[in-house]
Amino acid sequence: MLTRRKFVGQSAAIAVASGVKLPIWEKAFDSSAGAAGEEKPLLVGVDYYPDQTPENLWEQDARMIAEAGLTNVRVAEFAWGLMEPAEGKFDFAWLKRSVEILHRRGIAVILGTPSAAPPPWLSSKYPEILLVNGQGMTVQPGGRRFTCPSNKTYRKLALNIATEMARTFANTPGVIGWQIDNEYTLQQFARCYCKSCREGFQDWAKSKYGTLEKLNERWGTVFWSQTYTDWQQIPVPLPSNGDPNPGLVLDYYRYQSYANASSAEEQLAVLRKNCPQHFVTTNNVGAPLDTINLREMYRNLDFVSSDNYPGFAQVFMPTLASPEAMAATMAMGHDSMRSLKGGQPFLIMEEQAGKAGQSFFAPQPKPGQLRLWVFQAVAHGAMGVNYFRWDSARFGAEEYWFGMLNHDRSKSLGFDEMVRTVKEVKSLGHQGLESRYVAETAISFDQDSDWALSVQPGNSKLNYMGQSMMWYGAIASANTGIDVIHLDEDLSKYKAVFAPVQYVVSEKQAENVRNYVRDGGTFVAGFRLGVKDESSQIVNSPLPGLLRDVMGVTVKDPVPVYTEKIGVKFAEQLAGADGQCGLWADLLKPESATALATYTGAYEGDAAITMHAFGKGKAIYIGADLDVPSLARVLRTLVAMSGSNSAMPAPRGVEVTRRRTGEKEWVFVLNHTPEEQKISVSVELKAVVGSQPSGGALTLRGYDLVVLQRG
Ligand code: GAL
Ligand code: ZN
Repeated sequence: MLTRRKFVGQSAAIAVASGVKLPIWEKAFDSSAGAAGEEKPLLVGVDYYPDQTPENLWEQDARMIAEAGLTNVRVAEFAWGLMEPAEGKFDFAWLKRSVEILHRRGIAVILGTPSAAPPPWLSSKYPEILLVNGQGMTVQPGGRRFTCPSNKTYRKLALNIATEMARTFANTPGVIGWQIDNEYTLQQFARCYCKSCREGFQDWAKSKYGTLEKLNERWGTVFWSQTYTDWQQIPVPLPSNGDPNPGLVLDYYRYQSYANASSAEEQLAVLRKNCPQHFVTTNNVGAPLDTINLREMYRNLDFVSSDNYPGFAQVFMPTLASPEAMAATMAMGHDSMRSLKGGQPFLIMEEQAGKAGQSFFAPQPKPGQLRLWVFQAVAHGAMGVNYFRWDSARFGAEEYWFGMLNHDRSKSLGFDEMVRTVKEVKSLGHQGLESRYVAETAISFDQDSDWALSVQPGNSKLNYMGQSMMWYGAIASANTGIDVIHLDEDLSKYKAVFAPVQYVVSEKQAENVRNYVRDGGTFVAGFRLGVKDESSQIVNSPLPGLLRDVMGVTVKDPVPVYTEKIGVKFAEQLAGADGQCGLWADLLKPESATALATYTGAYEGDAAITMHAFGKGKAIYIGADLDVPSLARVLRTLVAMSGSNSAMPAPRGVEVTRRRTGEKEWVFVLNHTPEEQKISVSVELKAVVGSQPSGGALTLRGYDLVVLQRG
């Protein structure tokens, strides 16, 4: 895709222009680097706010952080106002003093660049930096992330402070790395629609399409007389008394992702130039966050950093009450973050330390849960964890977010559990924490499909995210390990690849899937497969478009389901009680495929699920939006049919994952339920964390876990 090539080209140019050297952290992840990997500190730390803490407490904090066994802190990511109290007037003396105190106690420091929260002098002097939301309303200062990602003044000022920080701390003992900004796009208003973004979008479109003829053709602007005759006429998709052009919106979402990623790239370039010995990352959350293409964001960063807050789910998604649903939601986030850089271990930059909350707060995690959630992250490929946060703020918008210390600075309810967890995580060492997660299956998480479907869902209740989470949850229960991928990546390592609502299919993806199935893979697609091309135009052939030969089926009719009752009857291979169709029914006409399920009711006899033997592999089309229990049964049957293996059979609510390095394998067994669970394990597995199995039997109390190793 042109945008990507351009993006990579541009960032490479920035890097070269600034005299970038290969960071040592990059080398450390090169498995051939051997001993180099041993020199790095483990990263089991805490997010710390000296900027919000009286200086006479810093010494005590550093001592207690060290006594808790924590190895590092992250600081300063919201301290712009203290570091640059007036434009161009910098004050890093306080931060230097704090870093020195921490360093004396052996605590390493990750510095955050502060661009997520500009100080009032900045927004009042340059009000043009403010974000305009999708309704055209200017978002006001007073919160955070209220800035436009395209605005040149804001980007220059963000770059200035990052540059001054980088120069100041390049050789400061104790500083080991950087977090750029904080959670790009992750706030109430994720995208900006201001004048700067409009100009940025016009430039981006010009470099993507080259000519207006091409752009007009790809967006189909002849419809409703939208033909552009000058680049400056191109709008951003603000309300316009009529639905926007779908091609324009899809490109606009891509542009917004690019605007954020390229502003991170600018900061990266100055950090690389000034601090070649430090690692550089940024923190975000994985799926279901979908406003930014995180592959683009992390491409040139050293590793992925992720924020993990199961408590948010408890507050905002009460439907996730079941332990499995909660666990799967968190697991999907971890898997999607790990998969961004080909399975390279990632860092939890923020991990829930107590009650989660802002204006109100979630319940205190049950005893065992804080430890379980950390180990779940490690089980999914994390190499380290930082608790959020050390103390609990007594002022500001996050007073109700509980840290390792209470508001009165006493130790929190979970403090001892966290100290124990820190010790246990560290005991896995570099070898365990940098080993690779084992995934036998993969699920596609595709921004183009998601974004295009959000513009035209087809059925008002249909959304990509909901479908992805349902499919992920169904597959996760098989414990085979899941990577969250794009269909144009290398698929050959997976026994089965799942693609729910793969609405947009590019030629490259179609070819990749074709080769994968031909060579023996199992490809399972959901309804609305291949409806659109990358410009969000409907394909000019019978559905499923580019993948029709692979699927061996034609969609006779795509049917949104509203009030009618449509049933699904399963053939022997998928045997089970009849299912119900939720939001969608693609009526399938098998060409060379066979039907594995048919509709009942109005579409009696039409195929609902088909399977096609193609080359050495199989392609399965699930045309019906199945009810959750049927979907779970069907997907698990298909996982088994593909030959994907789980590490060991486990009861419901018990998650099992594997990590490997050379001959060594770690097996993580996590009980997400409050009840005691009994699991049989093979006798050669011994616990390296948690209680030892005896005679092949393992008993795990509620929220308990073990890490096992062979030998
Ligand atoms: C994260 C964010 C932190 C803090 C935390 C608790 O999303 O990065 O700065 O706000 O949530 O709300
Ligand atoms: Zn803007």
